[in-house]
Amino acid sequence: MSPCPRRLLRRPAAEMRRHVPLRSAGRFASQTRPAARSIQYGLALTPREKIVDVSTNNILSEFLNAYWLRPETALWRTVDVNAMADFQFESPSLDVGCGDGMFSFVRAGGQLDKTFDAFQATTNLDKFFENVDVFDAFDPSSSPLVMRKPNYQIDCGFDHKENLLRKAAALGLYKSVKQGDADSVFPFSDGTFNTVFSNIVYWLTDPGKAIAEISRVLAPGGKACLMLPSTKLPEFSFYNQLYVKTKDERWRFLERMDRGRFTDNIRQAKSSEQWEKYFTAAGLEVDKHTNHLSGTLVKIWDVGMRPLFPVLMRMTRAIAQSELAEIKQEWIDTLKHFLLPIAELDANLSSGGQAGFHCYILRKPLR
Ligand SMILES: C[S@@+](CC[C@H](N)C(=O)[O-])C[C@H]1O[C@@H](n2cnc3c(N)ncnc32)[C@H](O)[C@@H]1O
Repeated sequence: MSPCPRRLLRRPAAEMRRHVPLRSAGRFASQTRPAARSIQYGLALTPREKIVDVSTNNILSEFLNAYWLRPETALWRTVDVNAMADFQFESPSLDVGCGDGMFSFVRAGGQLDKTFDAFQATTNLDKFFENVDVFDAFDPSSSPLVMRKPNYQIDCGFDHKENLLRKAAALGLYKSVKQGDADSVFPFSDGTFNTVFSNIVYWLTDPGKAIAEISRVLAPGGKACLMLPSTKLPEFSFYNQLYVKTKDERWRFLERMDRGRFTDNIRQAKSSEQWEKYFTAAGLEVDKHTNHLSGTLVKIWDVGMRPLFPVLMRMTRAIAQSELAEIKQEWIDTLKHFLLPIAELDANLSSGGQAGFHCYILRKPLR
């Protein structure tokens, strides 16, 4: 990567000031642990980006701490972090569809205290099975206690949900957050960013348009990391195989388990050739392409604890605060016994094209 031109460094700073900081960075524990961590993947580090601890054990532990009632999400996210080990954020940087910021916070080595729960603020739990986004809520009275700051910051977190951006802004990961629709023209000037990350392009109506926008806001020489579904994903989903494809009424009951999520995910499942056509059209070149998420993992995710979520939330809220930390830890330790080997095995299980997702590192050529 060529050094960032001064012109480029100045422009985003002005750009960022125009963003509305929804909330200042969250509380930091006075006793923060040192940032230096083990190097698992021998990353070539820029002076700005400190060492990222990508040990699967630690990453899974952090995700389980946040998503303890949705362990399948913790598992998927852990494997995503491993998949993007070769990607480095270089400022100015953008996270498209950052949501509550938890994924990028954990990936950056951030750690929250043991009482944190990504689902503390929820809404409309009674409408859970009507596919309402119950996580689109924000509780101004509680802010996360950051035990270890992330090892680097991302300049801008971009999402269309204000509540999620408020949560993200409280983590101290993003220098600013920006609310906007990634289905439209992105609210950033051409060539603003040196790196862009997104794991949501396939949620959008027109992924080709979003990829073109990512290319537009990237500076020449800049890099993007995108997570995108492969054609294997729908094959791995037994919900898709048993009901979506067949419309066999005997399997309709599985709809309640899916809540529309998988259908959203498989909508844009594409081969590498199909995704690469979008990249070429957008003027991006592939630096690295890997696959991850084995059939085993996707099937675990396909069931997960999703349908139990509302009742688990009720149970959690009924537990005395004095008991909660111990119960949560026991729950996490029990789950880790099963999930850690699966996360570690995923690279083997998903080899030979047997993987549900692509991870692309893309480059915008220097003109
Ligand atoms: C599955 S979440 C991923 C969030 C985060 N990147 C993570 O990994 O935890 C999908 C995110 O995409 C955001 N999103 C979906 N459609 C969007 C759009 N049209 N514009 C901006 N953000 C969008 C949602 O608000 C949500 O935060």
